[in-house]
Amino acid sequence: MGFDYPFRGRVAGLTLVCVTLAALLLAGCNVGSQQGYEPEQPIAYSHAVHAGQRQIDCLYCHFGAERSRHAGVPPAQVCMNCHSQVKRDSPEVQKIEAAVDSGTPIAWTRVHRFPDFAYFDHSRHVAVAGIQCQSCHGPVETMTRVRQVGSMSMGFCVDCHRKSGQPVTGLAPSAPSTDCTACHF
Ligand code: HEC
Ligand code: HEC
Ligand code: HEC
Ligand code: HEC
Ligand code: HEC
Repeated sequence: MGFDYPFRGRVAGLTLVCVTLAALLLAGCNVGSQQGYEPEQPIAYSHAVHAGQRQIDCLYCHFGAERSRHAGVPPAQVCMNCHSQVKRDSPEVQKIEAAVDSGTPIAWTRVHRFPDFAYFDHSRHVAVAGIQCQSCHGPVETMTRVRQVGSMSMGFCVDCHRKSGQPVTGLAPSAPSTDCTACHF
């Protein structure tokens, strides 16, 4: 009964779509609740001091943002570029040194947590479209402790994609997509 198979395939496909939608809707009850989240960190590292007062470029530490999907958090060795000389008597700085010596990465607590069912890529926005970090993360250079500023909700993403027929900086070579599959595979 050859003709049975495509039909079954379609039923299976439809079931998968329904299950996926249900999972997304359930997830929707929890997502977006991260706005304002400002966790305590294992070392009293301050963006206000480093990116604000000292004007260290975001990409000096978050070099991944330009090249890959994830911005990443710098390894302790990057901190030691300066702190092998600067503030060596500080107990907070000594924690960095201890991490390097023991080879144990610093256990930073994540601030942003994106749902698995949505796709985001830093380099597309930072390097290709030339969008400032602050458009999505707010004035991080004024924060003693990082908090999530924006909702990072679907509406936030799609609003800009809709408006970006003319991208914010005029640098983007392509208009961003509002197709579901651009952000949900
Ligand atoms: C000297 C290194 C350094 C510089 C410069 C720096 N950061 Fe960071 N950043 C860190 C470290 C370390 C963390 C992890 C600890 C924390 O959250 O404070 C972090 C965390 C973050 C987070 C939160 C990541 C998460 O867990 O979700 C964001 C967003 C961020 N930085 C954005 C920026 C922006 C924007 C700039 C420039 C205005 C910047 N950073 C400059 C070191 C740096
Ligand atoms: C268009 C919006 C947008 C822009 C622009 C943007 N980010 Fe992000 N960023 C996000 C989202 C969304 C997440 C959560 C992604 C995830 O968890 O995979 C995130 C997560 C992060 C994280 C923690 C997780 C990771 O990816 O390692 C850091 C650190 C960070 N961003 C830094 C930066 C810096 C520095 C810049 C500028 C160079 C920047 N971001 C530009 C939206 C943005
Ligand atoms: C480009 C140089 C540079 C880099 C890289 C750097 N720092 Fe600093 N950091 C400084 C300077 C300068 C100060 C002193 C600021 C002041 O007190 O005026 C400082 C101060 C600090 C302090 C406060 C020390 C105290 O007790 O007063 C901590 C904690 C700290 N940094 C952690 C870090 C961490 C963690 C990293 C890596 C993610 C890092 N720093 C990377 C230059 C740097
Ligand atoms: C400030 C405007 C802005 C915001 C906010 C923004 N984007 Fe984008 N996005 C763009 C632009 C411009 C491009 C096109 C870059 C290029 O040419 O590759 C893009 C491209 C993309 C792409 C590549 C697919 C495509 O359309 O070609 C994905 C996926 C994406 N964005 C997801 C997201 C997600 C998820 C969020 C929310 C966390 C988000 N974006 C927030 C402006 C934005
Ligand atoms: C530019 C990126 C982007 C596009 C395009 C997009 N989404 Fe989303 N979507 C997201 C993000 C990001 C979330 C997670 C929101 C959160 O964490 O609050 C999400 C969440 C969802 C959810 C979970 C419930 C909710 O609202 O939070 C559903 C269902 C969903 N999207 C369906 C769709 C459908 C259907 C389309 C096409 C019409 C679409 N999405 C297009 C980025 C996008």
